[in-house]
Amino acid sequence: MANFVLKGHICQSQDRTHLGIRENHYLVCVEDRCAGVYPILPAKYRSLPMTDYGDKLIMPGMVDLHIHAPQFSFRGLGMDMELLDWLNTHTFPEEAKYADLDYAAAAYGQFVAHLRRSETTRACIFATVHVPATQLLMEQMEQSGLVSYVGKVNMNRNAPLYLAEPSTIASVRNTRRWLEETAGKWQRTKPILTPRFIPSCTDDLMYRLADLRAEFDIPVQSHLSENFGEIAWVRELVPTARNYGDAYRKFGLFGGDHRCIMAHCVHSDTLEMEYMRQNGVFIAHSPESNMNLASGVAPINKFLDYGLKVGLATDVAGGSQESMFRAMTHAIQASKLRWRLQDQSVAPLTFDTAFYLATRGGGEFFGDVGAFEPGYEFDAVVLDDSNLDHPQSLSVRERLERTAYLGDDRNIYAKYVAGTKLF
Ligand code: GUN
Ligand code: FE
Repeated sequence: MANFVLKGHICQSQDRTHLGIRENHYLVCVEDRCAGVYPILPAKYRSLPMTDYGDKLIMPGMVDLHIHAPQFSFRGLGMDMELLDWLNTHTFPEEAKYADLDYAAAAYGQFVAHLRRSETTRACIFATVHVPATQLLMEQMEQSGLVSYVGKVNMNRNAPLYLAEPSTIASVRNTRRWLEETAGKWQRTKPILTPRFIPSCTDDLMYRLADLRAEFDIPVQSHLSENFGEIAWVRELVPTARNYGDAYRKFGLFGGDHRCIMAHCVHSDTLEMEYMRQNGVFIAHSPESNMNLASGVAPINKFLDYGLKVGLATDVAGGSQESMFRAMTHAIQASKLRWRLQDQSVAPLTFDTAFYLATRGGGEFFGDVGAFEPGYEFDAVVLDDSNLDHPQSLSVRERLERTAYLGDDRNIYAKYVAGTKLF
């Protein structure tokens, strides 16, 4: 277990509306956890190894609550379709390629290398239906040093024959095999149950997955109320449900006794919000994806006011990039257009709130993660913004804001995950 001290300008989210900046402070890691932020290093820590990052910024690692690893290969393509056509035209043909382990090894290698270089320290990841390729991805994620949940996808209907699992029994059998072979196998990489979305899974499969979820005591991730065409389809597929969220709830896959992430929630109404609040469901807000697939813009401040748990996500390849800084920028920009054009009752997002979503908001899904509070897991990213030149003097806060808007992976100088230095 690692014990060390970092020095620099410490930037973190205090709460939903406040960034906290501590210039030239010491950040202490004891046994892989944060032991505090200090202006003067307490005597008891003076014997620990120290890295002085000088004028650089040190922030908590960012948490990507929703990303599709197999879609990284076609990021930036096919962005002129809505969700259901995009799935059939681009996504399903690409995901079918992961039956080939050589292709999966190459494609996942690129995905993992990019994620490792990025500001992301933790992620919740969709794989494909294929068990061997999903295990290969989990192995690669473990080697990367990042912390993740990875899900073998379930889909036994409304997908091409070359990709869909042929029956409920086959889907359950594959999922059980995957869970038996991966549960407890790795330190940083854990399985998460991943029914793709309601249109992909028959009712009987959903009930069986809920049984497996309980048996293996794992969390759940899926998609919810993303796009109008999809929502109308779910209404037809599960006519007894009061809304899309209620369909998951009926099947026992909507939080409550387990942790659960639902991506998007662009069009969730008050009743769906109430179900999410009652069940502690996390919303993975994916603003770039929601623009690319013409889904809309989720009312994030309304969700936060209502007491919902919200994190930020890239949703590659609905989103085109793995960068959480880009996701923050897109979240702010989309919220302003929503406010201007659609609904002035929901205030646009500030930089402070976007930073909160990217760190503490999603971090909560992983436990004590997303801030430098005593006892929190030690995830830190060191930023070097010296290439973003400027003639005037800027505050540390302004430098952080600019790095988020303008920066890229060249600005990621060092990265620590759960107390381990990756680079
Ligand atoms: N809904 C079901 N599958 C997907 C997917 O792969 N991406 C997005 N954005 N939404 C989905
Ligand atoms: Fe998605």
